[in-house]
Order: sequence, then structure tokens, then C-alpha cells
Amino acid sequence: MSEPTVHGAERAPSLESMVRPVFDAHWRAPGFTVPNATTYPWQWLWDSCFCAVVWADLGDDERAIQELRTALAHQGPTGFVPHVTYWGDERFLEPFWGRSATSAITQPPMFGHAVVELVRRGIDVPGDVVDRSAACLRFLLEERRRTRGGLVEMVHPWESGADDSPRWDALVAGELTAEAWYARKGELVHALRFDDAGAPVANDECPVGSVAFSALIAWNAAELARLTGDGALADRASELAGALSTRWEPELGTWVDDGPTEATSGRVRTLEAMLPALVDPEAAHVQRALDELVDPAAFGAPFGPTGVHRGEPSYDPATYWRGPAWPQLSYLVWCAARGAGRDDVALAVAERLTSGAVTSGLAEHWDPDTARPGGAAPQSWTGLALTVARTAGL
Ligand code: GLC
Repeated sequence: MSEPTVHGAERAPSLESMVRPVFDAHWRAPGFTVPNATTYPWQWLWDSCFCAVVWADLGDDERAIQELRTALAHQGPTGFVPHVTYWGDERFLEPFWGRSATSAITQPPMFGHAVVELVRRGIDVPGDVVDRSAACLRFLLEERRRTRGGLVEMVHPWESGADDSPRWDALVAGELTAEAWYARKGELVHALRFDDAGAPVANDECPVGSVAFSALIAWNAAELARLTGDGALADRASELAGALSTRWEPELGTWVDDGPTEATSGRVRTLEAMLPALVDPEAAHVQRALDELVDPAAFGAPFGPTGVHRGEPSYDPATYWRGPAWPQLSYLVWCAARGAGRDDVALAVAERLTSGAVTSGLAEHWDPDTARPGGAAPQSWTGLALTVARTAGL
């Protein structure tokens, strides 16, 4: 625990007393943290990467490493890592996914960031975890089909982690009911195209260049490449960051998705679509995006940022992915603000995330104006508030 940027540990005792028992209760064999014991009883890729960072902050280096190992356990020969692993229930959804034990799509590859955060805390991350994380990023950067504008294609909305974001609405024809959406998501699974090793590489029904998904690939690759000195990975990451930069739309104040939704729902101002702020080399884009996050007429909120811009017709602070504050997204935009040297935005987001987590009882998401809890509670990734509070010295 020699990392100089992690400090103020003793100042977040009440948050730690909320997070630690949840993490202990959510730990499962063979070594992972369930997002929630009843709603989400399996292992999710990006949740696990966030949990690894929280375990590191709870002082359990072994669990932090184990969490990443189990998330990577079903990695395919071309580097693909599935988004869910059904530990102990290997036949679950087998007919749906066409394979046992795991899903057939991925999720934001937060491995790069997680490995770097562990190392930053003085944890000796084993070489196999580092190598597998790099292979996962290489799969996405080299094997996945690209859009015309050079973004990495997302083969299913669930790959974004922002499952019901208004950004994907144009992929559903007709009325946007929950049933229509669920049926459509099943159809999209059937349309997946795989390489010879069974890794999903394209989907003609969903060739969406999500700026959110590409930003997280570019950022994780850049972070890991900086740690390992992998020049080829670094080059790929900055190439993708450059492609993202061309997607900035100054009139909207957001980055626009590439592909079939670019003139429709791919322009909706959602919080996950602000994630290119992590990597866009154009400082003016990043600064404007960060301003939006704390502007009360845009994403700004006492327990925010909001998940969708307040000016969007789809904004609904109480509906899943339509407006509530999400702790993992708050964490990521906090990282972006720190990376851009915007201490004002970073501090505002840190305070709002921390008080939202405490007031909502570590909920999965919450109303950005009132912190009224939404979704599952307690949710493991909300433990990221502990990481943020410590670093910010709250
Ligand atoms: C929901 C979220 C997804 C997350 C999962 C487990 O499906 O949309 O991002 O990984 O829950 O927490």
C-alpha cells in the first residue's frame, strides 16, 4: 500500500463499515464477488474489474487478484472474455447462448485499468493476469470488426454494460416496450458471428460503433500499455482515441456513435457517451464534456451526474438506464476529470458519488436529485465510492 495518490484512508470509516460487510457477504467460490446476491448471482466482467479495485482498497490483495483471474478464466484462444460466467450453474441459459458456463458476448474490458490500479497500490499482479488482460484488449482492437470511421463494433447492446441506454433505441423497430426490447435482444444474440475459436467478431444486425464501448477499450489499452511498455498496444489505443475524436459533435456537446444509429439514437446525450473524455486527445472536447457533467441544466445533480442529459425526451431519473445516477459511471467520469486536471469536477463528482452511495444504501443506481435507491441493493460496484472517497480525502 505504498501508492502516493491513495490517501486519506482513515477519513472514510463509515463508508468502509458499509462496504466491507457487503463484500464479505458477496464473495463466492471459486473467487469472485456477485454484483448482488439475488438479482445478479453470477460473475459479470466489468463488475469484477471494479470489485478488484475495491478489494485492493479493503486491503485484500489476494481477493483482488483472484477476482481478475476468475473473470479471465474462460478466455478463448483469440483473447475473447465472456461478459457473464455462470459459476456452479454451467447449464444456465445454455440454449440461449449456444454454449455452457458463459455468455457469448463481452463487456467493457476494465482489466487494463484494474491491473494498473492494483499495481499502483503496491500489489504484485501475476504475469498471467497481465498477459491475459492484454490479450483481451488485443482481441477487441485487432479481431473485432471496425466501423467505417474506425470505431470498434459492439455486437450487442449488453456489451456496452449500459444495457437499456437510449443510445440503442433505433435498433428496435416499432414501439419501445420492455417486451419488444427483450425479444430484440434475443434476436441480436442469434445474429452474432463468431471466429473459428468461438469468439464474437461481428453482428450485421448491430454493427454499432458505440463511442462509450470504444472509449473504454482505448482507455484500458492505453493504461495497460503504459504499465507494460507495450508499444503496439499503445499505438492501437491512440489510433482509436483519434477516431473517437472525430465523433465529437459541438452542437450537441457529445460524441456521436458510428454506424446505423448515427443519425438517430446514436446522438442521444447519455452519460456513458461522455466516456471519450477519458481518451480524446482534443482538450477542448474534453473540457466542454466535463463542464456538462456538473452543469445543472445538463448532467449536473446533487447525487449525480445524471445517466441521461436532462434535456433529452427520454430522461427519466427513476427508470433503469434512462436517467438514474450509476456509481460505476460516476467513477469513470471522475477518472476522466482527474486525467484532464479538472480538480473542480473531480471533487464535485467524488462528493456526489459518496453521498449517493451512502444515502441510497449502496444501491445499484439512484435518483440523481434525491438518492432514492433504484435496482438491486446492496450492489457491489457501489463500493467504488470508498475508492473515490479515500483518494479525494473525503
Ligand atoms: C446490469 C447492468 C450491467 C451489469 C449487470 C451486473 O445488467 O446493466 O452493466 O454488469 O447488471 O451488475
